[in-house]
Amino acid sequence: MDASFLRMRRLRQTSALRSLVRETHLEPSQLVYPLFLCPGEGVRREIGSMPGVFNLSLEEAEKEAEEAARLGLGGLLLFGLPESKDEEGSGAWAEDGIVQRGLRALKANSALRELVMIADVCLCEYTSHGHCGVLHSVDGEQHVHNDRSLLPLARTAVSLAKAGADVVAPSDMMDGRVAAIRRALDAAGREHTPILSYAAKFASAFYGPFREAADSAPQFGDRRAYQMDGANLREAMREIEGDLQEGADMILMKPAMPYADVIRAARDRFDVPLGAYQVSGEYAMLQAAFARGWLEPDRAILESLVGLRRAGAGFLVTYFAKRAAMLLR
Ligand code: PBG
Repeated sequence: MDASFLRMRRLRQTSALRSLVRETHLEPSQLVYPLFLCPGEGVRREIGSMPGVFNLSLEEAEKEAEEAARLGLGGLLLFGLPESKDEEGSGAWAEDGIVQRGLRALKANSALRELVMIADVCLCEYTSHGHCGVLHSVDGEQHVHNDRSLLPLARTAVSLAKAGADVVAPSDMMDGRVAAIRRALDAAGREHTPILSYAAKFASAFYGPFREAADSAPQFGDRRAYQMDGANLREAMREIEGDLQEGADMILMKPAMPYADVIRAARDRFDVPLGAYQVSGEYAMLQAAFARGWLEPDRAILESLVGLRRAGAGFLVTYFAKRAAMLLR
């Protein structure tokens, strides 16, 4: 028998051997769990296109957070559904805004100390038109005004930091918002609050279910004039470079699975902490396959997440965070 060929199977024989030579590890502390806070009491409303994900009133959210902490998750990413919306999105920076109130409650709970509380900074959940910035009209057509959106975004970030956010995460994709937010945080005495910039955020069909969850679908047009074209990797590198120059401390890539090459390129190029967001549509399509018995949930969930870690993401934002953490125990 010829034993001179390469025997790759030698190290695959037992679970102990496989574990010893495993290159990529997934830990609960690398997972960030998104929560959608809504007004009311005792509200736990499941999102149609996202089974297992809910709009939660504050005391329900606190229960979820406690479970997240027990499971050893790294943090929470907070979104809010305000009581009412307006043209400017003023609910985003309201002192008693939904996420501000949520943050105060969560930060007061000592069982949650190990969770990093990340607050999404955007206007789309708070504007009546559902766009991520302030509108202006040019020749009778409505557009999102870049520079006029910076002040409300910066105000929102400061307000969230004051309410207790450990990290603020702008997801609007306006140019210059990281610098505007950094300046505003510093001026407010929040020079220690880190910015996690959704630096490379692509205009994506995979955000569809989120817009149901956050009630943030644009009422006209789409987001292609501010979010990136999915075909562009080099442009993503420039976005990241710009955000880092403006003062971003960490970057977030999204969506994740269709952009694993962009995650890899960013990892190789930039020496900052980098996360990937497995977005609502990625979650929804896996759930749809699970519901039909077409994929084996436990294995598919972990494989999808390990794949993103291998692509270079240090931490992962995922709606599967709790379930994955249970599987990793
Ligand atoms: C807000 C925001 C969106 C997501 C995160 N922050 C929606 C969008 O840009 O339309 C998407 C997250 C997901 O799909 O899970 N701008």
